[in-house]
Amino acid sequence: MNIQVKSGEITKITTEVLVCLNYEKDKTLDKHIKTLDRTLGGQLTDLHKSGEFQGKPNQTTLVHMNGKVSAKRVLLIGVGPREDLTLDRLRQAMGIASKRVRQVKAKGFTCVMPDVPKSVGQTELVAQALVEGAILGDYRFMEYRTDSSRNEKNLQTCTLLVPQGPDLTEVKEGANRGKVLGEATCFVRDLCNHPANVMKPSRVVAEAKKIARESKIRLKVLEKKDMEKLGMGGLLGVSRGSIEPPAFIILTYSGGRSTQKPIVFVGKTVTFDSGGISLKPSENMEQMKADMTGGAEVLATVRSASRLKLPMNVIGILPVTENMPGGRATKPGDVLTMLSGKTVEVQNTDAEGRLILADGLAYASRLKPACVIDIATLTGACVVALGQFAIGMLGTDESLKSDLRKAGDGAGERVWELPLWDEYFEQLKSDVADMRNIGGRGGGTITAALFLKQFIGEYPWAHLDIASTDWSASERAYVPKGPTGIGTRLLIQFLLNKS
Ligand code: BES
Ligand code: ZN
Ligand code: ZN
Repeated sequence: MNIQVKSGEITKITTEVLVCLNYEKDKTLDKHIKTLDRTLGGQLTDLHKSGEFQGKPNQTTLVHMNGKVSAKRVLLIGVGPREDLTLDRLRQAMGIASKRVRQVKAKGFTCVMPDVPKSVGQTELVAQALVEGAILGDYRFMEYRTDSSRNEKNLQTCTLLVPQGPDLTEVKEGANRGKVLGEATCFVRDLCNHPANVMKPSRVVAEAKKIARESKIRLKVLEKKDMEKLGMGGLLGVSRGSIEPPAFIILTYSGGRSTQKPIVFVGKTVTFDSGGISLKPSENMEQMKADMTGGAEVLATVRSASRLKLPMNVIGILPVTENMPGGRATKPGDVLTMLSGKTVEVQNTDAEGRLILADGLAYASRLKPACVIDIATLTGACVVALGQFAIGMLGTDESLKSDLRKAGDGAGERVWELPLWDEYFEQLKSDVADMRNIGGRGGGTITAALFLKQFIGEYPWAHLDIASTDWSASERAYVPKGPTGIGTRLLIQFLLNKS
């Protein structure tokens, strides 16, 4: 989608649909809409007074202008009461706008920059959220359709109209960020929507290669023989049951000084999780094509750091594999020696994410990181604990966790912390090895994170469990049914806040 920013008069703008956001409970319409309404002879005010349009969150009313102003139609969208406004309400309104505009078969729309209290966010953040919402709400995945729906185009343009007031350069900067972050999430959704017979480990490597063509990015890919040399027993152990070779991707963005320590992201990239020998039940197993969401989000984050020209060093690490029950597969009871040298008794081959992440986290130590954040669709227990609206967060560093919490609040991809107390390690004890890979009943998200903690180095660390949010059972304002890409904007916002 083309994103434009224009300044001008609301009555003179030529557009297929003019989108105006409006608060609930305000006695009159937004001041910009009122300007427009004067030319319309009070048509919109009548609509507001009659109670037909109240401005409730995501409520819409479409009015045809019949040549009275340059815009063909006006689409009023509610954002709820002014005092309850959040950046996410704006994102949602724009997600709804994209869908409604597409319904009327228009190719694009113009949104008037709303009048937003500064406490909600500076102009830049408002513009960013509006553009994110527009792009995310327009997302569909049609790659594998052969019917006419395949040819339905996405919206071509979204224009932010800036009447007097907000600073044009701030709106432009915010809109550019919104485009990068919105497209990053759509990239993740695409990767996770592709079926696992296409999005194999080799295809993930190909995607990383494409990203490595962007500015200041370098790529290193370790193959099976390199992993054997290094002793990556976790990743090798998980990949044994598959005929697809595993990969270990290291994607480096160097935007900062060479002495600046990198921020390292590690993303679980299981292109399909069948459970392995501890086979999963078949119901919903197809959703396990998205068990690579963490890795896709890390790819998108490094790509975005480059596109936003962030003045920092960022490294993305992706242990990539399938988890399959082939003849050579790791069996329950097998013991693996991990990259860190510690040993793990695999009691359940379906707890594979922590095995590959353990090698990723151990590898990260070698990069002398400023901090390490891993992100993974790690535990079904996280879905049970948090439902679909919160990402699980656990970690060793208060300031890192607080930065992530802040980024999540801003991005509308909120995290919720769970405890990482050492008492829980009792549940991970093994009779034959240093630890086992499952923690038994109770606290499944906590024991999984505590397992990871055994492999971290001397760096601040936080773990994000996105099993709760990576897949949506239904369509929402700017979240589609299926892979959501949630977590992507959180990571990029975290970097933006740091810069
Ligand atoms: N990929 C799954 C976790 C998952 C579940 C992600 C649901 C998204 C939605 C993970 O590899 C897994 O299977 N975890 C097991 C661990 C258990 C065996 C200790 C689980 O959560 O059941
Ligand atoms: Zn699993
Ligand atoms: Zn998994």
